[in-house]
Amino acid sequence: MISENLRKAAEYEKTYEKLIKKEDRPSFHLTPRVGWMNDPNGFSFFGEKYHMFYQYYPYNSKWGPMHWGHAVSEDMLHWEYLPVALAPDSSSDNVGCFSGSAVDMGDGRHLLVYTGVMRPGNMEGLLAYEPSDLQVQCVAIGDGIEYAKYEKNPVIDASMLPEGGSKLDFRDPKVWKLKDGTYCCVVGNRPADGSGQLLLFTSQDGLEWKYKSVLAENKCRFGTMWECPDFFELDGKWVMLTSPCDMVAADYEFVDGSGTLCMIGEYDESKGKFIEEAYHSIEYGVDFYAPQTILTKDGRRVMIGWMQNWKTLDIKGENEPWFGQMTIPRELHIKDNRLLQWPAKELDACRTERIEYKNVTVSGEKSLEGVAGRIADIEMTFKPAGSRENLCDCETQKNDVALKGLEIRFAQGLSEQNVECYTSIIYNPKDRVMTIDRTHSGVSAELVNSRSCKLIHPLKNIRMILDRFSAEVFVNDGEEAMSITMYTDQSADGITFIADGIVEMDVVKYCLG
Ligand code: FRU
Repeated sequence: MISENLRKAAEYEKTYEKLIKKEDRPSFHLTPRVGWMNDPNGFSFFGEKYHMFYQYYPYNSKWGPMHWGHAVSEDMLHWEYLPVALAPDSSSDNVGCFSGSAVDMGDGRHLLVYTGVMRPGNMEGLLAYEPSDLQVQCVAIGDGIEYAKYEKNPVIDASMLPEGGSKLDFRDPKVWKLKDGTYCCVVGNRPADGSGQLLLFTSQDGLEWKYKSVLAENKCRFGTMWECPDFFELDGKWVMLTSPCDMVAADYEFVDGSGTLCMIGEYDESKGKFIEEAYHSIEYGVDFYAPQTILTKDGRRVMIGWMQNWKTLDIKGENEPWFGQMTIPRELHIKDNRLLQWPAKELDACRTERIEYKNVTVSGEKSLEGVAGRIADIEMTFKPAGSRENLCDCETQKNDVALKGLEIRFAQGLSEQNVECYTSIIYNPKDRVMTIDRTHSGVSAELVNSRSCKLIHPLKNIRMILDRFSAEVFVNDGEEAMSITMYTDQSADGITFIADGIVEMDVVKYCLG
């Protein structure tokens, strides 16, 4: 039976999506059907399609009582909207259906596991969230289009928490299935010390759950509450991804506020304990949070994140028809205890109109004919700065370091007020620091506009994916990834290379369909 809140949301999105023109959305990044989107939810493969659900408030481009929007895709790039899947409409989620995940039950049923935010008593309409509301874990089962909430929800509640665990910050279950059919799920929580912990629960049927262990503990090191955890095996290691609240900046590694954390280590499965070995930020861009991964049929671990951050919500103005977008799917690997990210191979199939330049020398400013656009895939390979054989004249050979600085400006052009606009990636070879910066992209709101990171290795290559309102930058074969959104007028589509000193590079540019 479809509830009144779900019916209303479905009707609303169907009516109001018509007001959004295709060209006012990105071309291959998922945006909400209407209104607001945050975290990816229920990213899974079911019924021969990839499913993506998302934290959704259809009625406004601001966060509100959380629903689950829904879309399906064959390539994780081109999405078809399905009707809103969940609305706050039962006693265990009357304040909101917060983040969660999904898994194929193997018998034609698709299981959603999500956080219900609940306030005893009131069941009418939509309720505004209050920090005193309880958080519990709920399930819904569906056929890939319609989902029915389990009548015995919640399936995990405060009575199953280890001692000291908060019943107010207990959310974002990520579920997976073991080979023997056992369901596992990791849920974020706050222990008595006020920081974060990740709890492991198991189930034989996906409905009846048991507490197993504290899988990982923050111990007040990385922010407070750990949101949206994910946990998986990759390239012989175990990887824990989470998005901590209230981070404190640390060198170039972590920034303040809502951040991301990748921990790599081992897993003692019998005890349900993750053994940490290394950690770093998942992403070094401005707009990234709460990623979720899946294992594709051909065995790839692919991640999609919310290409936005709680710190940068003012990037778009008031009364926008949509707010929030997802990243492209990124294939993950582990090398030397670091997470590597690279655009999933599905993106290669979208490439058209190849333009190639070999051995281009840049000293001062340079643009290359045909290398422009707001929907593009651009690969740049740099010859090592200071490598003498690559220098083009005797003058520069006298320099110890041939390249003192490199800037790549994109989305470049004039704003409506006739002001020069661009977003940049800026590299400082001396310090090996890469910065992504949209200060001059036409934003007038006061918000975080740039972030820098220290590269693990000197710059060798960059792949940049542009899609109207964003840039995703992959450095040195994916050792660092940096995402940024920008809402510069689409006529600003120039790309300029600026070298302080001299650099030689190859450039391959494609349009993306
Ligand atoms: C993360 C988050 C989750 C929560 C959801 C609510 O961005 O705060 O912890 O479930 O958003 O929309």
